[in-house]
Amino acid sequence: MPAFQAPKGTRDLLPPTSTRARELVAVFAGLAEQAGFGQVVPPMFEDLGVFLRLGEATDVVTKEMYDFETKGGDRVALRPELTASIVRGFVEHRPTTPWKVWATGSCFRYERAQKGRYRQFDQVDVEVLGTADPEVDIEVIALGWRFYGALGLRQVSLELNTLGDPGDRPRYLDALRAHFGAHLDALSEQSRITLEKNPLRVLDSKRPEDAELVAAAPAIADFVSDDARSAFARVQAGLDALGVPFTVAPRLVRGLDYYTRTTFEFRGVGLGASQDAVGGGGRYDGLTEDLGGPPTPGIGFALGVDRTLLACDAEGVFGAPTGGVAAFVVDVVDGSHATVLCDQLRRAGIGADRAYDGRSMKAQMKKADGSGAAVALIVGDQEVGDGTVVVKDLRTGEQEAVTRDDVVAHVRKLVSES
Ligand code: HAM
Repeated sequence: MPAFQAPKGTRDLLPPTSTRARELVAVFAGLAEQAGFGQVVPPMFEDLGVFLRLGEATDVVTKEMYDFETKGGDRVALRPELTASIVRGFVEHRPTTPWKVWATGSCFRYERAQKGRYRQFDQVDVEVLGTADPEVDIEVIALGWRFYGALGLRQVSLELNTLGDPGDRPRYLDALRAHFGAHLDALSEQSRITLEKNPLRVLDSKRPEDAELVAAAPAIADFVSDDARSAFARVQAGLDALGVPFTVAPRLVRGLDYYTRTTFEFRGVGLGASQDAVGGGGRYDGLTEDLGGPPTPGIGFALGVDRTLLACDAEGVFGAPTGGVAAFVVDVVDGSHATVLCDQLRRAGIGADRAYDGRSMKAQMKKADGSGAAVALIVGDQEVGDGTVVVKDLRTGEQEAVTRDDVVAHVRKLVSES
């Protein structure tokens, strides 16, 4: 056992997984930018107060925050998500609306670490600030859906709910209090505490002893305003029109408190019931005001990069890129020719690698075969004397001596044929 290991709940992403994670973000970036979203890169930590707006009764705030005091005495926290930072940035910079942005990066939550649940994990995220138009809800949800489709995932499902407007909430909370209050004995101890602080969050309990009561709880749809109801109907019709399948989940509440109206979650396979959310989001029409800005509606989602990759594994899609280099230089003289040839090839845009430490011809050829390269370039004393390089097609075994001047063009031709 080494003296140090990656901290609990964190992982080293090694190649090729790291390449795969980067490509996943690139696919997301491509789709987001094609839909008119620009990238924001917020800081990884903020004044703790920014994140307290996520809800005093959420686990994210009460139990999972990586908060600390800086050497200067400021109370800061590593971001548990991107939305609050992005909205803080919106309030600070006041860009013109609608502000359509995407972001990616690591988030930190002090959670019970297990497969698919980490203390440092990555999200890709979009947010639209400045419009309450339900058409934007449809666009945002469809963007998430299309992203999973672009990765090749076919077993992701979409759950949809509305949480109504803040004005609808008190009546619903009363109904929840009455429902759960009448069966307090049957409720888990944790949920009894949650009920005191925020009855809505009891619906999010994953504890088996709460399941029956949660399933029987009143549905918020019966308590929302006509306005919120008709917006929700429009979102559903819009998704239907785009061919994005969903189910309405009347008891879907999210793990953060800022949501209003449309909320949704994407579920994948192969992750276990409590980690199967590969992504989620919704409207947060009050968050900008909570962070000191003008009343500004907003909607967005975040998709977990780590969990999405696990879902890809489970479905056998979006495999590790075969990548690697196109050419491998075998130098049995002194290694310096490999340095020059690799540099030449790379500058010409051809991926090239080589061996080190004066290894034998046999050992270097083995490396060349293992590198995935299509072509090996071989330099020995004779080639140096002749001013040539032997270029070997590793797929056919054919080889020929090529002058130094022609070598890049020759390799390019062979590589483009592969
Ligand atoms: P969230 O549901 O807390 O929402 O997280 C979004 C996604 O991040 C989850 O569905 C999951 O895939 C991933 N995730 C969360 N926690 C972990 C973890 N401990 N380990 C691995 N993956 C995790 C938000 O963060 C909101 N900011 C989404 C949003 C954006 N709402 C509006 N705009």
